[in-house]
Amino acid sequence: MPAALSHDAPTGTWLLTTRSTSYALRVDGQGVPRHVHWGGPLTLADAASLPLAGAGPRSSFDGRTAASEELSVDGADRYGPPALRVRFADGTRALTWQADGHEQPDPRTLLLRFRDPHYPLRTTLGYRVHPDTDVIERWTELTHTGGADDRADDILALRADSATLSLPARDDYRLSHAVGQWAAETQLRRTPLPYGETVLTSRTGTTSHLAQPWAILDAGDATEEHGQVWSAALAWSGSWQITLLRTPDNQLALNLGAGHDAVTVTLRPGETHTTPPVLALHVAEGGFGALSRAWHAHLRAHVLPHPRETRPVLYNSWEATGFGVTLDNQKRLASLAASLGVELFVMDDGWFGARRDDHAGLGDWTPYPGAFPDGLRPLADEVHRLGMAFGLWVEPEMVNPDSDLHRAHPDWVLHFPHRHRTELRHQLVLNFARPEVTAWAFDWLTRLVADNDVDYLKWDMNRPFSEAGWPDEPSGRGDRLWFDHVRGYHAVVDRLRAAHPRLRIEACSGGGGRVDPAVLARTDQVWISDNTDAADRLVIQHGYTQLYPVRTMAAWVTDVPNQQTGRSIPLRFRFHSAMSGVLGVGGDLTRWRPEELKEAEQLVAEYKTVRHLVQHGELFRLRPPGDLQRLTAVQYLAADAAETAVFAWLPQPRFGLPPAPLRLAGLPRDARYRDQRNGRVHSGAALLERGLDLDLPHTDWASALVHLVRL
Ligand code: GLA
Repeated sequence: MPAALSHDAPTGTWLLTTRSTSYALRVDGQGVPRHVHWGGPLTLADAASLPLAGAGPRSSFDGRTAASEELSVDGADRYGPPALRVRFADGTRALTWQADGHEQPDPRTLLLRFRDPHYPLRTTLGYRVHPDTDVIERWTELTHTGGADDRADDILALRADSATLSLPARDDYRLSHAVGQWAAETQLRRTPLPYGETVLTSRTGTTSHLAQPWAILDAGDATEEHGQVWSAALAWSGSWQITLLRTPDNQLALNLGAGHDAVTVTLRPGETHTTPPVLALHVAEGGFGALSRAWHAHLRAHVLPHPRETRPVLYNSWEATGFGVTLDNQKRLASLAASLGVELFVMDDGWFGARRDDHAGLGDWTPYPGAFPDGLRPLADEVHRLGMAFGLWVEPEMVNPDSDLHRAHPDWVLHFPHRHRTELRHQLVLNFARPEVTAWAFDWLTRLVADNDVDYLKWDMNRPFSEAGWPDEPSGRGDRLWFDHVRGYHAVVDRLRAAHPRLRIEACSGGGGRVDPAVLARTDQVWISDNTDAADRLVIQHGYTQLYPVRTMAAWVTDVPNQQTGRSIPLRFRFHSAMSGVLGVGGDLTRWRPEELKEAEQLVAEYKTVRHLVQHGELFRLRPPGDLQRLTAVQYLAADAAETAVFAWLPQPRFGLPPAPLRLAGLPRDARYRDQRNGRVHSGAALLERGLDLDLPHTDWASALVHLVRL
């Protein structure tokens, strides 16, 4: 294996080498960091001899090619979207690159330094490669090099993205991305990339339900199983922007960064702004499926806090008891949940302050005496006695105006002077950029966890920002809060985890409103949607797993008719849908009939026989969801191919005909597998070539789980 980082000094070329990807750039004769290559493997000699990306004749009208710089700055003859747009105090707007050396703090990290020839701005491009995955991390640091005491002017960055990534020139490009809204998150869209600029963004202050901070690109020829694919994701939990530029001469560059179009960064002398990292991942072959498996492997190896831990079967009270939680009704649910084989019982919203509905109480994090006269201990003890872990819902970044906290600290919320404070769900956003607010949050959270033996928190965030101002910000730079609120949220979670190493945390924001690699780095699972309809969920899960590991994807079985869609789907299908992720139960178990409880108990037990495959295996999306009359199927394969689990769903069979045998993936051809349902034995080759008979029942909402074990 060649070195991760190598340098050809005569040409100024740097080559970054991962297992099957090469990334090359060159600091040219003018000191400009230029892009050379991102794709299949090259030697250093290959890289040094390649022309610069986008080199070639251009008319004076076209300006410098957009896909040529490692960070597209504005100024001079550049007319594409800038990733870095600075304005100095005298009105000068362009950045001029001047190479200022490099550092290699370790064999896998490269820092390229540049300074402006006139103004006190140092720009550092950071690159990191990983020994075991094809991810290349990139970020940018901007440093105001004026001394804190030399009264230099501030420097304003109107845009400060993490990186520009350029793809090799192809005749065509296609974009895959996730769109959504509340209760309809992460819907995969795959469309030809339009010429010109395409912007994916969140302006909500959170990652948002509306879009995901990642993009997948191919030349229009990749499939789920074959072809070359490029992708990038931003590890950031606030507003963000991805700008893609496709030119008529078929160049493609994308800028990724934190903050949406209106968010600026002001640097005081001596200050450094470090952008969040972008993770860039290319697969030379294997298509979208191989790309997803490579993302899952990277996130498991380098991002998730406890990747090898198997997530327990959870019960959550929200759809059963809503805001009306009491000691008695939670004890009753807990006892039923335990009898089903549930391992973690979570009491959702409603347990604190004056929180009898969503109008009041957020911010007052002491148990509601009317429901918990002796505090939460009796419930925690009972849940533990039943052999389950105990979890609680919290929403630390929020406040209802009707709360003691807000009456005491009305200035703690995001607000502008002379503007109405817009309430959404009757709540306002606490400014987590303020140190006294994060100190308050950590203080009550750590006491809550310690005093009640809390094993698990569901950390929710139920509205986007509005009037995102901080009028009394000490340095007069209110825009900071777009970054510092997110850093404050991350910091409280990190501190809490450090203080309580056994505590596990679920990320939630009205469902999947805040999920990104930075959230995955500090939480254990994600509530990916408030939509618990088992069929809709297959669509949402399909989009979620394009990048994110199944091990983080929580899914509950709830009651019918479904609270979000009104649809009634049989229990078995609901279970199979949720069992293809991290299984949870969220129905009102006191209303389940004995035979339903019995079936649920059996399905929970069955889940436990395959969840090591679901949560830690490799995912193959055999049939995408969509048309209810078509089969949807996923397969999970053990790393050593010793076992595999297949889930299949057919909501509305056509003409009463069984679907064709389902061809599986990833199995060694000469291996032999026993179907645990019926004892039949199949060779790997037969399962790959002919396929597996699913033996689905001839009913609507047919579904199956097949566990195959190697002989
Ligand atoms: C959000 C969450 C739900 C539930 C409610 C409680 O909508 O996504 O799961 O916790 O808040 O108010």
